[in-house]
This record gives sequence, C-alpha cells and structure tokens, in this order.
Amino acid sequence: MNPYWSRIARELSPYVPGEQPRIANLVKLNTNESPFGPSPRAMAAMQDAAADTLRLYPDPEATELCQALAAHHGVKPDQVFVGNGSDEVLAHAFVALLKQPKPLLFPDVTYSFYPVWAQLFGVACKIVPLDDGMRLRIEDYRREAGSIVIANPNAPTGIALPRAEIARLLEDHRDIPVLIDEAYVDFGGESAAPLIADHPNLLVVQTMSKSRALAGLRVGYALGDAGLIEALRRVKDSFNSYPLGRVAQAGATASLRDDGYFRKSCSLVMAAREAMTRELVKLGFVVLPSSANFVFARHPRRSGTELAAALRDRAVLVRHFNKPRTEPWLRITVGTEDDIQRLIAAAAEILGS
Ligand SMILES: Cc1ncc(COP(=O)(O)O)c(C=O)c1O
Repeated sequence: MNPYWSRIARELSPYVPGEQPRIANLVKLNTNESPFGPSPRAMAAMQDAAADTLRLYPDPEATELCQALAAHHGVKPDQVFVGNGSDEVLAHAFVALLKQPKPLLFPDVTYSFYPVWAQLFGVACKIVPLDDGMRLRIEDYRREAGSIVIANPNAPTGIALPRAEIARLLEDHRDIPVLIDEAYVDFGGESAAPLIADHPNLLVVQTMSKSRALAGLRVGYALGDAGLIEALRRVKDSFNSYPLGRVAQAGATASLRDDGYFRKSCSLVMAAREAMTRELVKLGFVVLPSSANFVFARHPRRSGTELAAALRDRAVLVRHFNKPRTEPWLRITVGTEDDIQRLIAAAAEILGS
C-alpha cells in the first residue's frame, strides 16, 4: 500500500465499470450503450460548439439545457439540475439528500454504484432483498428509514414498477427524501416525474447515456422540487462549478429538440429486445421481463461465469456480476440485429444446440 494514501483512499472498494476493450470485431453488449448513434441534430450542434469559444468557460448553470429539459418534462427550470453523467448527479444526491441520521434503504440486487457512494460518503445503509422472483416489493420498504434510492426500471434485472407503485412508496414516506433512478425509463417504463408536483421529497434522476446515445458526452440530470435542486447546487458549487462543457451543453440541448429521432430509436431498441428475448428463450434461457435496453438471463444448465467466459472467447462481451444472488445471470445489452445474431449463434454453439 502506498504510504501517501489517505485513510479514505485505503478503505475504498471502488465501483468496477464494464470493460471497454479494443478487440477487433467485438460484439459489445456489456455496458448498455445505444446500438445507434446520437441524433444528427445533436452531432451538428456539437460540431458548431467546437469553436473558438471553447477558450471561455461554459455556463455554470447550463441555463438553456435546463430550460429544454424543463419543457420536455413539464416542470420549471428551477426544478432541474444537470451533471457530468447521472453518476455525478447521483453522487451529489448522496451527499446533499440521502445522507441522513437514519439508514438509506436500497435493494440487494441493484445498481452496484449505490454501496460505493454510501461507503465514500459515510452514508449508513440497510439493504432490502428483492423477492425470489427478483422483484422489488414496496411493502418491504415499510420500515424506519432516513432516505430511499430505487432504480426503476431496476438494473440489472430490467424489471419496472408502475408509477402507481412509486406513488404508494411516496405515500408511505412523505417525510424523507426518495430518489428514483430512471436511467432506463425510456425503454418502456413509467416515469415518476408527474408525481413531483405533489411530492417535495421526490428526486427523479435520468441520463442521456442510454436512450439518447450520448454515453460518451456524459450528461445526466435530476428533476424535483426547487428545494431539493437547491441542495444539489450547493454540493455542485462546492465540488466543480462547471460540470458540463460547452460541447456537452450544446449536444444535449439539440438532442432534446429532436424528439422524432429519440422516439424512433427507443422503439427500435424495444422491438429488438423482444426479438432477442424470443431467441434466448428458444435456447432454453430464463429471461426476466425487461423494460430496459438490456435483458437479465440465465441458463439452467450452465453457470453465469462459464457462459460469460465462453461468450468472451467468441468475441461477445456481456456483463456478469459474480455475487451469490447474481452469479447465474448475464446482463446482455440490446445490440444491432447483427450483434443479436452473433450473440445467439455463439450461445447456440456453447450450448451445443
Ligand atoms: C441504474 C443506473 N443509474 C445510473 C447510471 C449512470 O449512467 P451515466 O453516468 O452514464 O448517466 C447507470 C449506468 O449504467 C445505471 O445503470
């Protein structure tokens, strides 16, 4: 251990992001990126923004982007906060809202960054197991809590709760902050954003990385009561006042103005997800019902470790979480038609079907 490390650095167990390897002809289905490019309008706006003005700092409040997001979601601009990917927005929310004297609740099988931020920021937490079918039950959250974070649709299961269930959770917990992480909501989920008007404790977090194919740009945002947004701003301005560069602000704003492209790519991904699910089921996989741009699947005859390695040997990369409850499962991103054909052919060969 390096002697210069702080105690915090020594004690961390950092999040491990999905691999970004440079292997030729790889089928990359491990980090839930979009199989399509960003909106052509976003591309043009980013090219325009790559100009002499880059010598100047960007708008620290990303005013135009916040206005476009407010119009898109039917809220006011002071109910919007943007950050460098939703990971940064979530990290700020842990500090600004979720760190309370009583514990933060979240599921055992969920986005694996939550326990990492809890550790980094010293947030006490209580893990609430999903049921045997990997479903989240709102009743299980009827207990003493300081705050709650839930991914809806959940990751890596892909299972979504209807808005009415989130409303039930909010009725049970009017006095604590509740964060709904909607990274995958555009692929068939129901956003909790319409509940913001009646729930000053609700923060909804979304990203442009998945449904808007801008993972490389790093733009995420939160929607909520102006009081909650103010807390996020206070943390941001104590950390990095300019989280989004000029190119990112321009590209994200233009993407929001291209609703036709957005809707079309989401529906193509959803149709491809159903086709991919049918093919996996034909090979004997058990596939959870997904409302995301990935599926969570296991095969009764092979372990997850074995399948992930055998697929990798055939240049097909999927995500495997080697923890007791998730070991049998693979999280597979919905790719292009060609990606899906290659995945299915590789899986068929491995299974000898
Ligand atoms: C549930 C969930 N939330 C948030 C994120 C972070 O996305 P980003 O930082 O790209 O906006 C991810 C990324 O995979 C995710 O799966």
